[in-house]
Amino acid sequence: MEKTYRIAVIPGDGTGPEVIAEGLKVLKAVAEKVDIKYDLIHYDFGGERYLRTGETLPDSAIEELRQADAIYLGAIGHPDVKSGILEKGILLNLRFSLDQYINLRPVKLYPGVETPLKEKGPEHIDFVVVRENTEGLYTGSGGFVKKGTPDEIAIQESINTRKGVERCVRYAFEYCRKRDKAKKVTLCGKTNVLTYAFDLWERVFYEVGQEYPDIEKDYAHVDAICMWMVKNPEWFDVIVTDNMFGDIITDLGATIQGGMGIAAGGNINPKGTSMFEPIGGSAPKYTGKNIINPLAAIVACHMMLDHLGEEEAARLVERAVMEVIQKNMKSMEAGKMGVSTTEVGDLVAKYIHSME
Ligand code: IPM
Ligand code: MN
Repeated sequence: MEKTYRIAVIPGDGTGPEVIAEGLKVLKAVAEKVDIKYDLIHYDFGGERYLRTGETLPDSAIEELRQADAIYLGAIGHPDVKSGILEKGILLNLRFSLDQYINLRPVKLYPGVETPLKEKGPEHIDFVVVRENTEGLYTGSGGFVKKGTPDEIAIQESINTRKGVERCVRYAFEYCRKRDKAKKVTLCGKTNVLTYAFDLWERVFYEVGQEYPDIEKDYAHVDAICMWMVKNPEWFDVIVTDNMFGDIITDLGATIQGGMGIAAGGNINPKGTSMFEPIGGSAPKYTGKNIINPLAAIVACHMMLDHLGEEEAARLVERAVMEVIQKNMKSMEAGKMGVSTTEVGDLVAKYIHSME
């Protein structure tokens, strides 16, 4: 019997619902085209619900989401909610509870998209960042001593477990092998200062790396990586790094691939439920204007299909995205695209329908 996918949808805050609507339009088009069956289960988690009920993400919802084949997330973040509440309560809670231990972030410049890098084109900007997604500085380990006094101490600890580092590094090598491009994994760390955390990362990297003789291993400090990403992005194939560095370098990555309008990511649990999202955030100032770029959400949908093993569907979505960029769009920036949010979704869906 043919499978019916259960896809949980969390549109979230700000422009999240607008871009997710376009992603779902594209999903519908491609599912018709290649005959995929799916059910959508909608959830209203986000700032509005929190302001109404005081609830971020109930435990019962986590159990329900665990049963889904994938989660499609818009954006979390609301101007009227104190920074950290929704991020920790919803986004990080999902990543941790569902053990989505990889944050996969492709940095790919599509033809026709403008990059701020001089003299660089799609042939130079095509790599993937494998960011550890459940440990490091993100675990919430630490605390205050003497808070609010002149002697105050704030401690924020980076947690790195052998198991967590190993599964992340192994994922990066496997991914690199499957990707089959330059066959090179670069570890991004800071072994010259963070001599405990990245000592572990470096040892595990070269140890696990021995199982991958076909893959070149490289190391660079995170600050140097930032420099090379701007000067020589073509040096990278797969970059593996911890949670915090991965967070930072993937915003730089998004910028060189054309900005938040196009950058997508996957929170992956290879054996559980994974979650796909545009990485740009809720962009409150653009909400309801029909000017936000939905391509990042559509590319997230492409990643979700690919992850579900629907490779043909994934390919069609990506091809249609590339076509819309080249034929219909002036810019990736909100308000400067030359087309509206809903038109972008319509066009991607139209190209999918017309494809051979
Ligand atoms: C991201 C975001 C999140 C992170 C925030 C919203 C908690 O910046 O997905 O990169 O830091 O991981
Ligand atoms: Mn980030």
